[in-house]
Amino acid sequence: MRSHYCGGINESHIDQEVTLCGWVHRRRDHGGVIFLDLRDRDGIAQVVVDPDTPESFQLAEKVRSEFVVRITGRVRRRPAGTENANMATGQVEVLGRELTILNAAATPPFPLDEYVDVGEDVRLRYRFLDLRRPEMLNRLRFRSKVTSYIRNYLDNKGFLDVETPILTRATPEGARDYLVPSRTHEGSFFALPQSPQLFKQLLMVSGFDRYYQIAKCFRDEDLRADRQPEFTQIDIEASFVNEEDLMGVTEGMVRELFRDLLQVDLPAFPRMPYAEAMQRFGSDKPDLRIPLELVDVADLVEGVDFKVFAAPAKDPKGRVAALRLPKGGELSRKQIDDYTKFVGIYGAKGLAYIKVNELAKGAEGLQSPIVKFLGNEVALAIIERVGAQDGDIVFFGADKTTVVNEALGALRVKLGHDLDLMTAAWAPMWVVDFPMFEETDSGKLTAIHHPFTAPSCGPDELAAAPETALSRAYDMVLNGTELGGGSIRIHDGNMQQAVFNILGIDETEARAKFGFLLDALRFGCPPHGGLAFGLDRLIMLMTGASSIRDVIAFPKTQSATCLMTQAPGTVEEKQLRELHIKLRKPPVAAPAAADAETPKDA
Ligand code: AMO
Ligand code: AMP
Repeated sequence: MRSHYCGGINESHIDQEVTLCGWVHRRRDHGGVIFLDLRDRDGIAQVVVDPDTPESFQLAEKVRSEFVVRITGRVRRRPAGTENANMATGQVEVLGRELTILNAAATPPFPLDEYVDVGEDVRLRYRFLDLRRPEMLNRLRFRSKVTSYIRNYLDNKGFLDVETPILTRATPEGARDYLVPSRTHEGSFFALPQSPQLFKQLLMVSGFDRYYQIAKCFRDEDLRADRQPEFTQIDIEASFVNEEDLMGVTEGMVRELFRDLLQVDLPAFPRMPYAEAMQRFGSDKPDLRIPLELVDVADLVEGVDFKVFAAPAKDPKGRVAALRLPKGGELSRKQIDDYTKFVGIYGAKGLAYIKVNELAKGAEGLQSPIVKFLGNEVALAIIERVGAQDGDIVFFGADKTTVVNEALGALRVKLGHDLDLMTAAWAPMWVVDFPMFEETDSGKLTAIHHPFTAPSCGPDELAAAPETALSRAYDMVLNGTELGGGSIRIHDGNMQQAVFNILGIDETEARAKFGFLLDALRFGCPPHGGLAFGLDRLIMLMTGASSIRDVIAFPKTQSATCLMTQAPGTVEEKQLRELHIKLRKPPVAAPAAADAETPKDA
């Protein structure tokens, strides 16, 4: 239908006849001549239609924004003074000879010919229009480049792209499963995979040696700006490898990707044990661009009368930490109150602080609601430990270790962003030496990574002290976002059973849930390991988008609905009956259906 993309015409086409197809971005009637900015995915071309071609001219008068048209005409240089240096096609225009209206369009719910801030609900409701906007199109175009680059990279390294099932059994990664009822097996359900984890391990047992897949994963969990219920992993597994091999090949992949697609030379990837990351940054995905650190002060405050500090200081599960903000003395009362509210989100009961006005005056030079409770000596010892100087402020967190880490860890990141403290554009790293398990609120142990991750020790040692055992897992972190995670796997049945036992999964349950894996481990399973990257997060970081929804063509809302298709939706009684399902309560309108208003003039 067409000879060129609109965005592709330039001075080399002058005097050629071209045929362009696209959407009318803007129509301007300059009394006597009509200008149409014609848009397709590659850009915009200016088309001039004049009354010398009366039929086309009449049609051009009818054309409105977002009409779909086809135009044939001659490319010519724009008259001197009318060039547009901001447009790739800005030196030329097409003198339209033959215009065909391929389709009309209702007035769009938001203008596409100028940037306007449109509410995300409206954008998601009309996603097909939102995707016409160049910022969305460009992000998805970039995403396509990245997946193609990665496929190439891994193909060249001998990885085989293998698809694994979507209708499967639970693949535990710590979230809830999405279930699919079986029609043919009454009362039974498939689970959508939280990741291809078990299948990729089985491919190693099969001898595939190196596997990858750009795989859809499904997790029913609380959503945030960097989480979707359905997302994409770059999933990798290899046999006869150790941590170094896997971290090497994946670090190389990310490094080359940034170099070739963004012209960014990433700095070295430091490796940091999990314990150190938690200690210094309160997070297992520290943003190393921010030069602020948590400092333990429990030993200094365990004897003070101030219970808020002394109690957690003495509690083995408690923590008292300080966070020094250089020049933070300038923060206003209101700002401090706002930060106090902010840490409250993470469960902190307050945000004690000391402002250092003039250290030469000793404790007199400190300004704080808590110095009177701590005593001058302790306060000055803290100031010395954190290295605070005149003009600084020191914040405190005192609570259960998890609360302090989350609250001060988040405060550190917020201060970094609010006060523009970033010391670099990119800060990649590896977090290593994760514990195998963590304790849930109910006191049970759960796997920090997943139950197939190998411990750094043998089965007996593991059984003797599971709480302190470390795993052979590693996470790649970039600018405070967990980009990917993986581990060396258990390839021995006894070890796998030992881990299941610690997790409270006895042999009967293990056989019922993971019998196929335990079988596979008996039939010659090679040592193996792997890693999975969150593709959406990678693209989000590379494009500077603020949410992964902006790098996914058709994402879900924060409450896991699709405003466009109105999924999830109710189904007919007949369908439910076929699936042997009876609802406990009559269906309520799904949130998507309730949110979506009908278009006014469509
Ligand atoms: P993990 O659970 O760490 O590991 O997931 C790997 C990466 O996937 C991304 N990710 C998500 N992205 C968007 N929305 C979500 N809801 C979401 N959940 C996870 C993150 C994360 O780092 N099978 C293991 C990998 C392995 O051991 O090889 C796994 O799935 O970027
Ligand atoms: P209060 O004794 O509750 O008036 O608190 C005195 C100061 O300590 C205030 O600045 C509170 O914000 C702060 N504070 C209270 N609880 C905590 C806590 N768990 N961690 C850090 N600071 C706290």
